[in-house]
Amino acid sequence: MTGKILVTAGPTREKIDPVRYISNYSTGTFGYEIAKAAVNRGFRVVLISGPVSLDRPKGVKLIRVESALELRAAVLREAASADYIVMAAAVSDWRVKEAKTRKIKRTRKTMRMELVENPDILSELGKVKGGRVLAGFALESEGLEKNALKKLKAKNLDIIIANKIDSKTKPFGKARTSVSVYDRYGGKLEAKNRTKAEIAEIILDKVLEFI
Ligand code: CTP
Repeated sequence: MTGKILVTAGPTREKIDPVRYISNYSTGTFGYEIAKAAVNRGFRVVLISGPVSLDRPKGVKLIRVESALELRAAVLREAASADYIVMAAAVSDWRVKEAKTRKIKRTRKTMRMELVENPDILSELGKVKGGRVLAGFALESEGLEKNALKKLKAKNLDIIIANKIDSKTKPFGKARTSVSVYDRYGGKLEAKNRTKAEIAEIILDKVLEFI
């Protein structure tokens, strides 16, 4: 199978000052497994990754980014020539309104920080979808199916991979996980207690249904 697949992975870091940032627990495992599986299937793979401690997968073009705005710029650059896009990155929904260029000193007992919304990259891609296959993730604490289907529609996706997060289910890192995969035609499949490498294959099978 040929064609270009763009995969995003990992967290973003939103700068507070030269020393500190806001981020999340994403390790990048899912995106990297999808990128590896895609290389093995013969895709041309571009992997845009936030800061993670994973090895560069063989055979991918790896673009490292830090913030959501950097991720967005790289995605928009690469998306134009992509046939498939899988947004597995855990994009920070907010960034610090005014990141400081100097380290903030500990001079006060409390501190307020103003955050502003980051662009929703996946929604932007959905608006200019063209013939591309577009897949996103939905991480939900409650109403998994309802919220995932809402995102599928609102972001104009072909596929959404819904992953639960609660006190029992930790979706981060190398552990096995359970996901539900929904497509825009009402298809649904469940993968229970599988490795992320196994789920990556399931996602690619689904993506290829859309050619
Ligand atoms: N995403 C994105 N840009 C953002 C936030 C999220 O492209 N600023 C993408 C993620 O890569 C993922 C999907 O959107 O594929 C869903 O992210 P999620 O955080 O679950 O959903 P949100 O749309 O941010 O909604 P909410 O946080 O309210 O659940």
